[in-house]
Amino acid sequence: MSIIEKARAKQQQKNLETSVKEAQYPLEEINRESIDASPKQELSLDKIALAERGYLIDNGTRKSIKDEFRKIKRILLNNAFGKAAKTLHHSNLIMVSSAKPNEGKTFVAINLALSIALEQDKTVLLVDADVLRPSVMRELGIEEQLGMIDYLLGKTEHVSDIIYNTDINKLKLIPAGKLHHLSNELLASEKMATLANELANRYPDRIVIFDCPPLIGVTETLVLANLMGQAVIVVEESKTSIVDIQAATEHLNENLALGLVLNKAIRSHKDLYGYYGYGYGYGTKN
Ligand SMILES: Nc1ncnc2c1ncn2[C@@H]1O[C@H](COP(=O)(O)OP(=O)(O)OP(=O)(O)O)[C@@H](O)[C@H]1O
Ligand SMILES: [Mg+2]
Repeated sequence: MSIIEKARAKQQQKNLETSVKEAQYPLEEINRESIDASPKQELSLDKIALAERGYLIDNGTRKSIKDEFRKIKRILLNNAFGKAAKTLHHSNLIMVSSAKPNEGKTFVAINLALSIALEQDKTVLLVDADVLRPSVMRELGIEEQLGMIDYLLGKTEHVSDIIYNTDINKLKLIPAGKLHHLSNELLASEKMATLANELANRYPDRIVIFDCPPLIGVTETLVLANLMGQAVIVVEESKTSIVDIQAATEHLNENLALGLVLNKAIRSHKDLYGYYGYGYGYGTKN
C-alpha cells in the first residue's frame, strides 16, 4: 500500500469516529466588530502575468491544471463543509506548507484560492502567513500593503484593516505586512490563535487558505498547524524524499486532515520542464 493509500485508509477509519472536537478558544473572546474588509481600495491582480506563469486565471486555457486543482478543491470543500467537518476543529482553515522551501507552496495556495473563488457560493480569503519569505502579493502583481504582521504587532487595531477585496469576485487577501525581526514568533502568539479562531468562526462558510513557511526548520509552522483543520503539503517530486515528508509531518496534530500535493511531477520525458502535474492523497498522517 502506498503512503497515500495508507493515509486514505486511516482517514476512512477515522471518519467513523464522529467526536466533535471542542473549540480551543472560547467564543466569548471574539471581538464582535466586523472582520470584513474595511472600506479601502480594491486590489487589482496582474491577470495577464499570472496566466503566463501558470496561474489559474479563468481564460479557458490550461485545462489540465484546472482539472487537477478542481479535484483537490473538491476534497478540501468536502472536508470543510461535509460530514468530515464534524470531526475537524476549524475545518475551513487550510494551511499550505511543504517540507522544504521552494517546493511550490505559494503557487498551490494561490491556485487553490483562485479555484475556490470560482465557486458560486464560496468566498475565499488567502492569507500570506509565510512572514519570513512573503511572496503572495508579489506573485499576484500587487504592492505590499498593511498586513498580518502589522496587526499582530498592534500597529492596526481592526482585523478589517488588513483584509482586502480584489477585482476577483469572492477572493479576499490578507498580506503578510511589513517584515519584522519577530515575524516568526508572532505566528506562534496568542493573538495569532485568536485571529485564526475569529476567521474560522465568524464566517464559517468562508474558506481561509494560509500560505505558510516550510515545516522543516521553522518551528512556528507547527504551532500554526495546530490552529488549522486541514493541511495541504506540497511535495516537489524530484526534490523531497519520503523520509523528508515523514520528518516534516510526524509532529503535526493528528486531528488535522492532511493531503499531499505532488508538484512539478514529470509526466512526459519529452517535455521535462514544460509540464507540471499534481497527485493528491488525503488522510491523516502516517
Ligand atoms: N506547478 C508549477 N508550475 C509552474 N510554475 C511553478 C509550479 N510550482 C512552482 N512554480 C514556480 O516555482 C517557483 C517557486 O514556487 P513557489 O514560490 O510557489 O514556492 P514556495 O514553496 O512558495 O517557495 P518559498 O519556500 O520561497 O515560499 C515560483 O516561481 C513558482 O511560480
Ligand atoms: Mg512561498
